[in-house]
Amino acid sequence: MNYMTCTAQELEQEYQRLRKQYEDEKGKGLSLNMARGKPGKAQLDLSLDMLDVLNSGSAFTGADQMDCRNYGILEGIEECRKLFGDILGVDYRNVMVGGSSSLNMMFDTISCMMTKPIVEGCKPWIEVENRKFLCPVPGYDRHFGITGYYGFEMIPVPMSEDGPDMDLIEKLVSEDDSIKGIWCVPKYSNPQGITYSDETVRRFANLKPAAKDFRIMWDNAYCVHDVTDTPDELLNIYDACVEAGNEDLPILFTSTSKITFPGAGVAAMAASPNNMKVFKARYQYQVISYDKLNMLRHVRYFGNYEGVLKHMQKHKAVLAPKFAIVLDTLEKELVPAGIGQWTNPNGGYFVSIDVCEGTAKRVVQLCKEAGLVLTGAGATYPNGNDPKDSNGADGSGRNLSQRQRPQGQQYPHRAVLPAERRAANGDGSVLYLRQAGCVRKAAESVTFRPAAKS
Ligand SMILES: Cc1ncc(COP(=O)(O)O)c(C=O)c1O
Repeated sequence: MNYMTCTAQELEQEYQRLRKQYEDEKGKGLSLNMARGKPGKAQLDLSLDMLDVLNSGSAFTGADQMDCRNYGILEGIEECRKLFGDILGVDYRNVMVGGSSSLNMMFDTISCMMTKPIVEGCKPWIEVENRKFLCPVPGYDRHFGITGYYGFEMIPVPMSEDGPDMDLIEKLVSEDDSIKGIWCVPKYSNPQGITYSDETVRRFANLKPAAKDFRIMWDNAYCVHDVTDTPDELLNIYDACVEAGNEDLPILFTSTSKITFPGAGVAAMAASPNNMKVFKARYQYQVISYDKLNMLRHVRYFGNYEGVLKHMQKHKAVLAPKFAIVLDTLEKELVPAGIGQWTNPNGGYFVSIDVCEGTAKRVVQLCKEAGLVLTGAGATYPNGNDPKDSNGADGSGRNLSQRQRPQGQQYPHRAVLPAERRAANGDGSVLYLRQAGCVRKAAESVTFRPAAKS
């Protein structure tokens, strides 16, 4: 029954039917939490053997001939830098391996630029009045949290299926030298699962910002997190920047949080020698050296980049059926009703769905009452501010988010039925299209991660 075309009486009957179905669901006493980007237990179990890689009988000396049990080597052990160099597609000499959180490294990096100019002659950002940061929306709330904390005005930039609106970005950064950077999750973005097109990456690499100290925060958190056999390919931003004579523009980040153990994995960043010189000069004051035993443990467990990819196949085996359940259910339940649009990404952690305007908060509330916790509304907007203030927020922005597109604006991403995705086999670029939106109203978005029980 298509809700957009049926009569009031038909709608009333449908409502009564759904009400009963909902009460039945409630009666199941579910306790599910999809509000956080947490791998399920089965995924955590995949890396358990890594804990046995080091023990009291292990050799603790790495390639640098340093005892990994002791202080030393600020930038991390060589073999781990090489591993992350391969993951990020950069020379390992430009890599610094940190602690267990890439978000922590991002915070420290912004903090560094707040207090020390990244380019000689520029002001530290704390002295820049009206400093601004570009925030593709919907995006990762914790990114916005960092720049919000440091007092940036955050300018939302709409996402399309190719990535953020580059026309807007090029215009803004070329005109305003108080715009100091942009947050990017270039592959399987949080929360839409969008991978930036080659053209988008090239346009980023060729930006001509008015601010000499403008930087791209390139958070490649989901760089090896494919869930289909047609994974997306992301163009190498660093190479593109070098080619464009702009090698100082990007700062790359990633971690093994969604590979081994979130909060107990290894994080890394990479940037040009000019940038790394400034960052290391700052990092030396805040830490003597990071956890080299954990670096060693990870490197010995994976062996090399191929080992990481092989491991990710196991994650895929766990996650793909969950994605399928979510997508098949959405298709079965919402397509006939003619409501909702959703993404069908080739990887990452999220499926983003639009529901009719004014209903996302209610969806979250009803889910909660039925034992399913979802991320609160507005979380994927800077300061939690949905432009229409129609969404709630739980502060994570990861597993479920809602948003509402500005009136009259085209919703930037659409989804395909699995069959259509299969038909599109071979084109691994971004999302495929399928129109299933609300006819009468604009939409809000809800993002599900096919997650495990809490
Ligand atoms: C885009 C993105 N970046 C960073 C993180 C956090 O990474 P880490 O655990 O390395 O701090 C997450 C976690 O969900 C994320 O979605």
